[in-house]
Amino acid sequence: MTIPDVERSARPVTDTDPPAAAGAVPAVGPAVPAQGAPRRPGGFAPEDARRDIPILHRTVNGHPLVWLDNGATTQKPRQVIEALSGFYGAANSNIHRGAHTMAREATEAYEAGRAAVARFLGAPSPDDIVFVRGTTEAINLVAQSWGRGNLGPGDDILVPVLEHHSNIVPWQLVAKETRARVVPVPLRPDGGIDLDAYADLLSVRTRLVAVSQASNVLGTVPPVREMTALAHRYGAKVLVDGAQAVAHFPVDVQDLDADFYAFSGHKLFAPTGIGALYAKPEILREMTPWQGGGNMIESVDFTRTTYAPVPHRLEAGTGHISGVVGLLAALNWLTSFDRNAIAAYETSLMAYAQQALAAVPGLDLLGSAPDRIAVLTFTLAGHDPAAIADWLDRDGIAVRAGHHCAQPALAHYGLESAARASLALYNTAEEVDQLVASLGRLQQAAR
Ligand code: ALA
Repeated sequence: MTIPDVERSARPVTDTDPPAAAGAVPAVGPAVPAQGAPRRPGGFAPEDARRDIPILHRTVNGHPLVWLDNGATTQKPRQVIEALSGFYGAANSNIHRGAHTMAREATEAYEAGRAAVARFLGAPSPDDIVFVRGTTEAINLVAQSWGRGNLGPGDDILVPVLEHHSNIVPWQLVAKETRARVVPVPLRPDGGIDLDAYADLLSVRTRLVAVSQASNVLGTVPPVREMTALAHRYGAKVLVDGAQAVAHFPVDVQDLDADFYAFSGHKLFAPTGIGALYAKPEILREMTPWQGGGNMIESVDFTRTTYAPVPHRLEAGTGHISGVVGLLAALNWLTSFDRNAIAAYETSLMAYAQQALAAVPGLDLLGSAPDRIAVLTFTLAGHDPAAIADWLDRDGIAVRAGHHCAQPALAHYGLESAARASLALYNTAEEVDQLVASLGRLQQAAR
């Protein structure tokens, strides 16, 4: 995959566009190069990222923090923190309304964020991007807006067993209303999707395939491009949940031919409460409002209300303006590195971690599909996952324990709970060593 091309995403300026954002954004935004200008072309060193992230330099329980809970949320570079504080300190205003300088600047920053998301995803236009609270809201929006209008009795929604609950439950809700069916796509023993079973389940009844580009619990990276091409042969649409993918490797929605693509800002170094939904323009144009309110209308009358064009039609109420400013800063920060080099670094770090963890007596790793992100979910004989997380926390090491909002994926392995270390670009081999040493001490202590 290649880094999204900044120029290809450019589109003609229209009457409804805000004035060029370049003047306003630096006042509220980050002092890092814009997308497409890698700091260290062809290479990546985690120190480049670590030095930007203040929280990684704190201690927890008397130990330097080892943040291995990136699947839950990522830590924020100072560029993001400064962008938020710059916005509230000097540029706070509502957007798309008010004839004053502050409203115009905030609008410019917000729309610059939308353009940055479009470039980041390789989307043809910023108009294809809807701001939402996160991946969960994006999927619920598609289920409630597109789903209600396009699903009916006897229709199938195919959902692989490895999906996060947020890519299962919204489909169950809309399936109940429309009398469609949610059909699980089974997994292979290694945690990959059983592609033969998938091909068999596809039919003219299939209206939608909802699949993650990376699993939050098994790390599996399904062959989304191939799955999408197959689904399209039956006229089905494909929603790709990019929550766990976007921080790890470059994404190009046009290359995937995804009909919908959803992600959360906080999984890629931006604030919580902001995310984005991409949809193909011809699909987005047909989507009816999900929530009503300000910002999404053209005119309101008690006899007839008309709606704004997309994406605004799907963004009722005041958006998370500072969140978008932070997201813009995070995208600029992330794309200031060579993203293919980051992916290569994380792959080698995961290989190192797999090998090191395999040496811990009684430790079993879940998932061994060939294409994976650096998610290491494990059980340790004789120890409850919650007790493992607690033990590691005493050494300043943060991992998640529990069902990881992916109960069917764990049930595939006969489990209800597991511990998970999920790595990001700023993690190091030394931190993996600390994890392994702490787990070794836990095993020793239990003898
Ligand atoms: N989806 C997040 C995780 O996997 C919360 O931890």
